[in-house]
Amino acid sequence: MTYIDTDIIILDNVSKRYTVENLALYKISLEIKKGEFVFLTGPSGSGKSTLLKLLFCAERPTEGRIRVDGVDISTLAPSQIPLLRRKVGVIFQDFKLLEQHTVFDNVALSLEVLGLNRTQVEKRVRDILSHVGLIGKIDRKAIQLSGGEQQRVAIARAVVNRPPIILADEPTGNLDRARTNEVMELMEELNARGATIIFATHDEKLFENTHRRVLKLKDGRLIK
Ligand SMILES: Nc1ncnc2c1ncn2[C@@H]1O[C@H](COP(=O)(O)OP(=O)(O)O)[C@@H](O)[C@H]1O
Ligand SMILES: [Mg+2]
Repeated sequence: MTYIDTDIIILDNVSKRYTVENLALYKISLEIKKGEFVFLTGPSGSGKSTLLKLLFCAERPTEGRIRVDGVDISTLAPSQIPLLRRKVGVIFQDFKLLEQHTVFDNVALSLEVLGLNRTQVEKRVRDILSHVGLIGKIDRKAIQLSGGEQQRVAIARAVVNRPPIILADEPTGNLDRARTNEVMELMEELNARGATIIFATHDEKLFENTHRRVLKLKDGRLIK
């Protein structure tokens, strides 16, 4: 296949079948450029989460090729998956925080794999928490925070090691409009600093006036 190196994500005829009856994605081909901010939309069950999961190897394609940052990940060896995940920060609708752990620990955990010393970890965690407006709650347990605050912790965790790619799977799905706007602003800012972002959402308000590319899935097919 041909590709140009400004494409950081490339799917070439990718299909995903979970079961015999269920074809979650059918022959998806697309390219995403370095630094792009792309919306991924479509009704519930159309394959948005599946597509994102393929990009960090939480699921494997049944057919087709996927390249992420120059690496063919369609058949990536399990031993190579941690390397891929360092390049890809993931944000989920339900936050997936360690609820009984502090805000600091939730964010610092992502840095452990990088082999930084304690001082470096503290600095990075404090910097990102200041950035998302949560430095004052650094010692709170995650469960003691509001939904909007929990999502900002989850964003801090996803981006603290400065991944070039950010995948957000309905990150505002559990938030009210004001909290949603805060999350959108953070995502815009991360994109302005160079991160490539795929933002999955079925909330049309988020992209109705956008100049950004909107990818639309329906029954596992890319229709736009
Ligand atoms: N782990 C799984 N096992 C079997 N079927 C699944 C699994 N995950 C998702 N599906 C099915 O794949 C289709 C796409 O789901 P999903 O990617 O979660 O869509 P979306 O995120 O757009 O709601 C749906 O029909 C869903 O039921
Ligand atoms: Mg989903």
